[in-house]
Amino acid sequence: MTTSVTSVIELDDVSLRYVRGPMWQRESVWAVRRVSLQVGPGQTLGLVGESGSGKTSIGRLSLGIISPTAGRVRLLGRDLSGGARERRGQLQVVRQHPAWSLNPRLRCGSSVAEPLAILRIGRSTDRRKAVTEMLGLVGLDPEVVQRFPHELSGGQRQRVAIARALITSPRFVVFDEVVSALDVSVQAQILNLIKRLQQERGFAALFISHELAAVRYVSHEVAVMYAGEIVELAQSRDLYGPARHPYTRALQAASIGDPTFQLRDATDLPAAGCLLTPRCPIAVAACSELHPELRNVAGHPVACHRADDPKWSGSAAAAATPPSVARDGDRPAAFALAPTRSARGCP
Ligand SMILES: Nc1ncnc2c1ncn2[C@@H]1O[C@H](COP(=O)(O)OP(=O)(O)OP(=O)(O)O)[C@@H](O)[C@H]1O
Ligand code: SF4
Ligand SMILES: [Mg+2]
Repeated sequence: MTTSVTSVIELDDVSLRYVRGPMWQRESVWAVRRVSLQVGPGQTLGLVGESGSGKTSIGRLSLGIISPTAGRVRLLGRDLSGGARERRGQLQVVRQHPAWSLNPRLRCGSSVAEPLAILRIGRSTDRRKAVTEMLGLVGLDPEVVQRFPHELSGGQRQRVAIARALITSPRFVVFDEVVSALDVSVQAQILNLIKRLQQERGFAALFISHELAAVRYVSHEVAVMYAGEIVELAQSRDLYGPARHPYTRALQAASIGDPTFQLRDATDLPAAGCLLTPRCPIAVAACSELHPELRNVAGHPVACHRADDPKWSGSAAAAATPPSVARDGDRPAAFALAPTRSARGCP
């Protein structure tokens, strides 16, 4: 495959297997299965899916924190497995809990300056100036430099964590569930802040969340993950209409509290065919036999045998209630599903 140097980060047919459990009871889990993604400069790719679908694993692969079991990860066209020194400061992450990024014993000014000190960028006076400027950019008063993380609100702490991530002017930033622990009004402020900072500074971003509405709002393109696979990859604007993949459709329904389209409860993943088959309300016989590959349907990739089936896809079908959903009509609308388990090998 040819490498596109227009991408900041590129995942090329990447799979990741974790091996866990004690020696006498080893279990392997395919957390990521044959994923190919690209993020260009100034672009945000959203990654959405339920808990355990592999989102953080993709983030960690993109940052070079872990190596893929198969496939390649490239930063600016170069394999991420080498050149650790040159890429320092170019890749950053902001995580769900600021406490994971901020040392509780360090004042916020020192936390934000720390990446510059580690990389030996500038003298201490330059660093102090850069920290004050960066805190201003994320909407914090200069006096925050003197405070400890526990003296700030959750939203302010997340702003400090963002300032710390951006102080080295990275080329690529992973935002992993950064608004999940915040209340709704603060969530909106942080989402707007991320959008503004990206427009001003031009970094590429991977925005990870289990909430489709947040992902759609900040991202140019959205990848929907289920059980380690990308099942739909669409421009954000295309996800305001009915999605082609039933899993995406269920996320859409959950994001507006619509109880008319739900998946069945989680089970073990099937050994063959589409991984969603046991939960999919529109599955047909072929689904349990043939694994659906991503293919272009209505202008974007979808992995579903029925994605272009007129009985299912399209706005008229979107309004229809699939038969199995009618039986489950009394279930709560929330899209809260138990994590799935995999005993299956990587496809
Ligand atoms: N270090 C690890 N060792 C073993 N298994 C792991 C490890 N990290 C993740 N997993 C497993 O890999 C799968 C994907 O996990 P991952 O954390 O990437 O999902 P996620 O989509 O980020 O979930 P969440 O929304 O809960 O953060 C899960 O089955 C998880 O249990
Ligand atoms: S391939 Fe079949 S089981 Fe899988 S999402 Fe499509 S309809 Fe559902
Ligand atoms: Mg995660």
